[in-house]
Amino acid sequence: MTDQRPTEVNDAAPSALSHLIGQRGVVDQVTVALEAAAADRRKFDHALLVGGPGLGKSQVAKVVAAEMGTGLHEVLGQSVTGPADLNALLLGAKDRDLIHIDECHELDKEYQTALYLALDQRKVVLPSRAKGGPQSIPLNDFSLLLSTTDEYGLLQPLRDRMRLVLRFQFYTVGELAALVAQRGRALGWPVHDGLPPLIAERARGTPRLALRLLQACRRVCRAEGETTITRGHLTRACALEGLDEIGLGPTERQYLAALAEGASRLNVVASLIGLPARTVSQVIEPFLIRSGLILKDDQGRRQLTAEGRELLTRRANGPE
Ligand SMILES: Nc1ncnc2c1ncn2[C@@H]1O[C@H](COP(=O)(O)OP(=O)(O)O)[C@@H](O)[C@H]1O
Ligand SMILES: [Mg+2]
Repeated sequence: MTDQRPTEVNDAAPSALSHLIGQRGVVDQVTVALEAAAADRRKFDHALLVGGPGLGKSQVAKVVAAEMGTGLHEVLGQSVTGPADLNALLLGAKDRDLIHIDECHELDKEYQTALYLALDQRKVVLPSRAKGGPQSIPLNDFSLLLSTTDEYGLLQPLRDRMRLVLRFQFYTVGELAALVAQRGRALGWPVHDGLPPLIAERARGTPRLALRLLQACRRVCRAEGETTITRGHLTRACALEGLDEIGLGPTERQYLAALAEGASRLNVVASLIGLPARTVSQVIEPFLIRSGLILKDDQGRRQLTAEGRELLTRRANGPE
């Protein structure tokens, strides 16, 4: 192949705050926090990043590190499996570095406790070695970024130590279209003018899904030996991925079908579609609720809205 352009959407993620698209509230909070840190020549405030998967939490962590000009140390909560993992993470950070713990609700309660104690005491205590007794090592003045889809999976004292709370929202179609166009340009992938909004409409308010769809379109485009990504590539990519015209995939359709068949309790719906209840309530439902297809009543029962029922009827009668 003679085309030397990057082949992965993630090869061209933005690193400057000014290149982030949408997510105004978070961007404004981060702007003020960066300016305050610069004015006082100190670290970025400890922050909790809350929001569904693919909304830009890791992206913001990366941008903060780039804007601060400091190191970024990233781990997944579930990959901390012993005190040595946590200590290595904390001891590896220099002054003003950022430690980003992704999916921090998966961090064992024991380590969540160790983490806030370490923040308070600014040291870690290593187990005793021979006669010397436990060894206490001072920590550098790093800042901690905790990302989660489930803030209540965090111990309250740890949550309370986060000075900033950044809440990530779904993106509008216009924002996602701008994001797709921006990424296409950064990657040097020619994209037909009318395409970004069509991708955006199928991305469920989520940058990761928009970019994944761009990647899928590019795959089809290249497989067909072409260079400019067009509407035809999108149609074929969606057919391959099982995505409909509003971006619902097989799992969402199964979810809606379960409600149509009368299921209304979270646990029942979750077992019908074969996913953990928490994944259903934190990953599947938020977009369906926001787009007005389902609602939850005061007792926590799920039901289809008129719009949701209409969508299913249209599907049942339609050509798809
Ligand atoms: N506001 C934004 N502007 C530009 N690109 C974004 C934005 N938010 C997310 N992205 C891109 O979307 C993808 C998913 O974002 P990511 O930070 O991994 O989500 P999360 O960590 O919340 O699961 C990445 O490729 C990222 O570069
Ligand atoms: Mg992430």
